[in-house]
Amino acid sequence: MKKITIAEMAEYTGQTIKLGAWIANKRSSGKIAFLQLRDGSGFVQGVVVKAEVGDDIFAAAKALTQETSLYVTGEVKEDDRSAFGYELQVTGIEVIHEAKDFPITPKEHGTEFLMDNRHLWLRSRKQHAIMKIRNEIIRSTYEFFNDNGFVKVDPPILTGSAPEGTSELFATKYFEEDAFLSQSGQLYMEAAAMALGKVFSFGPTFRAEKSKTRRHLIEFWMIEPEMAFVEHAESIEVQEQFVSHLVQSVLKNCQLDLDRLGRDTSKLEKIKAPFPRITYDEAIEWLNDNGFDDIKWGEDFGAPHETAIAEHYDMPVFIINYPIGIKPFYMQPHPERDDVVLCADLIAPEGYGEIIGGSERIYDYELMKQRIKEHNLDESAYEWYLDLSKYGAVPHSGFGLGLERTVAWISGAEHVRESIPFPRLLNRLYP
Ligand code: 4AD
Ligand code: MG
Repeated sequence: MKKITIAEMAEYTGQTIKLGAWIANKRSSGKIAFLQLRDGSGFVQGVVVKAEVGDDIFAAAKALTQETSLYVTGEVKEDDRSAFGYELQVTGIEVIHEAKDFPITPKEHGTEFLMDNRHLWLRSRKQHAIMKIRNEIIRSTYEFFNDNGFVKVDPPILTGSAPEGTSELFATKYFEEDAFLSQSGQLYMEAAAMALGKVFSFGPTFRAEKSKTRRHLIEFWMIEPEMAFVEHAESIEVQEQFVSHLVQSVLKNCQLDLDRLGRDTSKLEKIKAPFPRITYDEAIEWLNDNGFDDIKWGEDFGAPHETAIAEHYDMPVFIINYPIGIKPFYMQPHPERDDVVLCADLIAPEGYGEIIGGSERIYDYELMKQRIKEHNLDESAYEWYLDLSKYGAVPHSGFGLGLERTVAWISGAEHVRESIPFPRLLNRLYP
């Protein structure tokens, strides 16, 4: 008998097969038992009918506890009542390991309890669906950049510099001076773009954030493309094409997962490039006219501001040209204004906040040197980086997309902690 996975069942309609599975849940009466089986590839209902399997197998099925592992044999049947479309008419059961008192039961549990049991919580339907969507976003990211002539480059994790400011660094002792866990691979990606033209990275980044919000992790994954000879307006076009591709790929390949999460997909179907663009100046004016008198020109947006702007457009929206004072040292000044820079944040709809930060980069040697000084950065740590504006400097732009915020938005998860397998948060290092 062939051993298959739940995901492969459709190809075996009418045949008797064997599955390795766990019991996600179970319901039974005197004559029939319904086993909710999961095997990692999916979830399916196994139906055990006493009159067909006999007393012994039926008694074994009725005794199965949540998360017990087993081999099940049975016939694959079409079932149009379930979203999956198939069920298993069980003929045999072979218990591998009996699980007693699995801590996460079908009843409601508190968040801290679930987070303490994250290693087990991952097995639940909703978490399974979010991980599948995360995987599809990862897959379609590689697809997008490979199809568009980008080369994947891996920047280091241990670094000596701090591209996004020095307040949120993880320092580690080993080298003579402090080393920092990378908060962004950008500076290395700029060097790589001068060698390979269009490059992207995809790796873990670290921010010793003190914020405890639904959008902040201290370890998160970022995709950082960098493009030589590309100006900021062109970079924004790549960003909207990329984000549209992610959303459309999830819609196409993760229907069951979105369905299981109860995601309103009509909101996602609309997500197609181009996205609206507003300037920072316009955003401040709009906020001030719409009940937010607390924010003044020159200040950064808080979550409520971003949410209000995003709700107004009901689409991802680019806020462009932020004040120079609230952005990192490397951003190219606006050609006609010295108070704003050529940058954009992409704000996701439905309150998920900023998912992309990007800009054109300074490529004038003297200006870069001056900015490093103004930001009180240790010039010796940036000597190599300054070489990029010394030898064949060119206009170039890039951006960083936060994976977990994007996963949270597309899957409709409440909090970024559910969009990464093992979240690292303020005060959380386990499991
Ligand atoms: O806006 P950020 O800080 O930009 C950079 O790091 C640039 N160097 C990127 C570049 O141009 N190459 O971060 C980029 C994105 C944010 O828009 C957000 O999606 C995500 O990274 N992000 C976080 N996600 C989860 N938790 C945090 N603490 C995050 N900080 C940033
Ligand atoms: Mg940012």
